[in-house]
Amino acid sequence: MNTRSPAHRPRPAHATQINPILLDRLLCADGPVTIETLALQLDCPARIVLEEVDALRTAGCRIDSHPQHGLTLAVAGLPTWADYLRWCNRPRNDRVIEVYAKTTSTQDAARRIVMSCGDAADKALVVADEQTSGRGRLGRRWIAPPGTAVTFSRVVFVEPVRLSVDRLTLVGAVAVAKAIEPWLGPGAVQIKWPNDLLVAGKKVSGILVETFTPSVPTRRIAAIIGVGINVTLDVNDLPPDMPELRDRVTSVHQAGRRVDRLLVLRQVLAHMDELIDLGDDGPALEYWRGHCPLLSQRLRVRHAGRTITASVVDLDPTAGLIVQTGDGALIHLPAATTTIL
Ligand code: BTN
Repeated sequence: MNTRSPAHRPRPAHATQINPILLDRLLCADGPVTIETLALQLDCPARIVLEEVDALRTAGCRIDSHPQHGLTLAVAGLPTWADYLRWCNRPRNDRVIEVYAKTTSTQDAARRIVMSCGDAADKALVVADEQTSGRGRLGRRWIAPPGTAVTFSRVVFVEPVRLSVDRLTLVGAVAVAKAIEPWLGPGAVQIKWPNDLLVAGKKVSGILVETFTPSVPTRRIAAIIGVGINVTLDVNDLPPDMPELRDRVTSVHQAGRRVDRLLVLRQVLAHMDELIDLGDDGPALEYWRGHCPLLSQRLRVRHAGRTITASVVDLDPTAGLIVQTGDGALIHLPAATTTIL
């Protein structure tokens, strides 16, 4: 029996036939682009470009047109995302991609893919415009009004000996920071261990890693890296019953520049794929050290039932934050059992 209410039933974004190369040129353009330039870039007549621009508009893209300067993509419509992300994944074409207008949580949808596809679910990607039960670490809620955030989950299968939630959280956080920093300025993004990304002290993104053993036979553990990034959010649009969020949250638009959510998603995925394929923690760790506000700071933390005051020395991607107490002892603090006070 399906116990989910209709509002919670995943609603896929409708599929379309669009030209992803044209969408890519518009997404990546720094300013308006003329039809003639696009025709040259796509190596096709201007008449065809115009038809394909119309197809993008039909698929929900908002494209502004100026008689002299040309076309500017204002919003990449959600129905184009799946086609575009599949095009970005060429020539490998090796990942399941699902884009939803609305679902409970992309973490749940990704888990269903693992349960039904087994090993073929490796790298699977689930994106949603709206989540009715988006969740964060430590049982918190993740709230993002529709159309304001990039919210996705990416599956990764890991050998049991390499499995570390802390390592995958590091990969997620570094991938997001690398992707959004160009729009915010060098050094503007800080990674607050373990899973928050801050700009000017306010949260712009959070990472949630969940793991489980698939029921289908596989030697590996499935991990789901969930990422939420506030992109176009105006904090005044947050639910009125959560006034405390307004002072603690920001978005890429509010802190930096206007950028389309689809481009942010593409960039984060590219960095995440690269870091995962590398199989070496060195570069992510180096980047983290350059973007961690806690390094050398004295912290009070709650760990395994004790309150500890200590200075942050470094991060061990497997064992957690490395801190030094007043008596010189080095302690490892895994994220799962540690809360910064
Ligand atoms: C946190 O800040 O504690 C982590 C937030 C993680 C939110 C993302 S949004 C996509 C994915 N689906 C969820 O339900 N949560 C993660």
